[in-house]
Formats: sequence, structure tokens, C-alpha cells
Amino acid sequence: MNDQSPAENAEAFRLPLTHVMITGASAGLGLELARLFAADGHPLVLVARSEDKLTSLAQVLRKDFEVDVQVIKADLAAPNAVTDLLKALDEAEIGIRILVNNAAFGSYGLVVDRQIDVYQRMIDLNINALTGLSRGLLPAMLACAAAGDPIAAQRGQPGIMNVASTAAFQPGPLMAVYFATKAYVLSFTEALHEEVLDQGVRVTTFCPGPTRTGFFSQQDMVPTGEISEKQLAESSKRQAKRMDASSAALVGFNAFKKGQAIVIPGFKNQLIAQAYRFLPRSVVRRVAMGMLKAD
Ligand SMILES: NC(=O)c1ccc[n+]([C@@H]2O[C@H](COP(=O)([O-])OP(=O)(O)OC[C@H]3O[C@@H](n4cnc5c(N)ncnc54)[C@H](OP(=O)(O)O)[C@@H]3O)[C@@H](O)[C@H]2O)c1
Repeated sequence: MNDQSPAENAEAFRLPLTHVMITGASAGLGLELARLFAADGHPLVLVARSEDKLTSLAQVLRKDFEVDVQVIKADLAAPNAVTDLLKALDEAEIGIRILVNNAAFGSYGLVVDRQIDVYQRMIDLNINALTGLSRGLLPAMLACAAAGDPIAAQRGQPGIMNVASTAAFQPGPLMAVYFATKAYVLSFTEALHEEVLDQGVRVTTFCPGPTRTGFFSQQDMVPTGEISEKQLAESSKRQAKRMDASSAALVGFNAFKKGQAIVIPGFKNQLIAQAYRFLPRSVVRRVAMGMLKAD
């Protein structure tokens, strides 16, 4: 049982739950997930900071899949971002059936070399926004499921997909805070899966391994100082070896449809995540440091 009062649940379920909301839908995995949900006939709400990219994507998805696509520009690391987003949905009378918490960023380098505000923004986005949106939208999903959910047969149960990472399974020296945020996402989302298991709401933790997106070229991921030709060539070689975003997203999408608790795309990624469970922590830490140094 959730601890909302019946009145709070009734209020939460004031609107029919129709849309899939995807954070960080302007690029990478979020964009691919948006395509998959649209192709499956779901109306969408796309959220990110780059309004122009969201607007162009919305036009394409409306045309290709004939679904309603709404765009909300939001910096989810900003103060009050979650409250403002929930208010905007309410004012637009959009009920969120499926929430995909995908927006996140990482930062590469020694903890001692990074400014604390980078870490604060990261925790605000990767942890606080994800938790706030999950908590904010869950009561309506539970109430909808409890009320018999008239469109469950057509659209599937309401639910939440939180994007973690294979980074969630071990500490990450040189990306310490990012790895820790992803460990939080995995722990929180697995727990939530169990809490609502028999209440008609699906909750999935999607844990991609290294994937070919813009993630690695974001400002905080690029080492400071001059980058040599050789480093550039190595970096593009590593990018070419990563899984492509559409294949990874498809694995996550299919697992969510089935209501799976956790999904890791790719056999090698699954193997590494499992192996870490059986190795001594001292070995895991050193292996992780070695791998991240090479990155
Ligand atoms: N790529 C990988 O190797 C990999 C591996 C494991 C897990 N993941 C996870 O997969 C998810 C998607 O990453 P990606 O690889 O697709 O990265 P990406 O290409 O960098 O995309 C990140 C998305 O998040 C949005 N975003 C960033 N900061 C935001 C903010 N403050 N407020 C709102 N939106 C924000 C970006 O849009 P705007 O810039 O327009 O705001 C963009 O749409 C993340 O949770 C990441 O941790 C990625």
C-alpha cells in the first residue's frame, strides 16, 4: 500500500494517464527511446534543455507515427525543476502513464580536481530529479492501476523506467560521483520495483554499458588541457567500439514492456556486471581504475 490518503490518490488520478514522458529526449538513448515509444503508439512529452532539438524531433515523430508529442524545455538540475515540471504537466492537463528518467551527465577526472558545483548539479540531475519525478508521478500510476485502468490492455500498465548504467555495479575511480549516482539509481529503482510489484505498476532499471552517444563528448567528460592527435584518434576508436544507441534502447524498451526489474544490454556488459559480484572489492576497484584510465 502507498501511504497517500485516498483524497491524495483521487487528486493524483484526476487526469487520464495517457503520455510517456522522457527526460533527456533531445539526444542519445533518450531520443532512441522516444522513437520506440512513438512507434508503439504512445503520445509523448519530451523534456530537455535544448528546445530546438526537441521541437525538430517532435515534428518528425508526429509525422512518422501520428502521435501527439509535447515539448517541455527544462533544466532538471535547476532548483525547483521537478515542482515546475509537475506543475506544467498539471496546467497542460497531461497525465503521465510512463515516466522514463533518462537525463544524466558524467564528469571525468580526480575528485580533487573538479569543482564542487559540477558534482552538485550532477547529484541534482542524476539523483534528485529522478527521485522527485518518480515520487511525484507514482501516486497517480498506482491509483490508475487500482481503478481498473481502462487502457492497460492497449497501452500496457503504467510504470517507470529509470536509466542507470553498468557503472552502478562498481565504484568508479576518475568518475567517482557519476558511478555513485548510478549505484543510487539501481538501488532505488530495484527497491521501488519490489514495493509496487503487485499493484499494477511496472518499474525497470535500465543499465546500458558504454554506448555510442554524445555522453563522452559533453563538457565535463572531456579531460582538461590540450588533446593530442593520438588521443583524439584513440577516443574515436573507443567510440566506434561502443554499442549503438538504437540497439541498446531497444533492449531497455523490450524489458520495460515485460516489466523486468533490471536489464543490461549486451552479453559482455552482463558478464562484467556479474563478474564484479564475485571478485574481491580491492580487485574490482583496481580493475575499474585501470579501465577508466584507459578511457
Ligand atoms: N552513453 C553511455 O555510454 C551510457 C552508458 C550507461 C548509461 N548511460 C545513461 O544513459 C542516459 C542517457 O545518456 P546518453 O548516453 O544518451 O547521453 P547524451 O547523449 O549526453 O544525452 C543526455 C540527454 O540528457 C539531457 N540533459 C542533460 N542535462 C540535462 C539537464 N540538466 N536537464 C534536462 N536534460 C538534460 C540532454 O539534453 P540537453 O543537453 O538538451 O538538456 C540529452 O538529451 C544517462 O542516464 C546516462 O547516464 C549512458
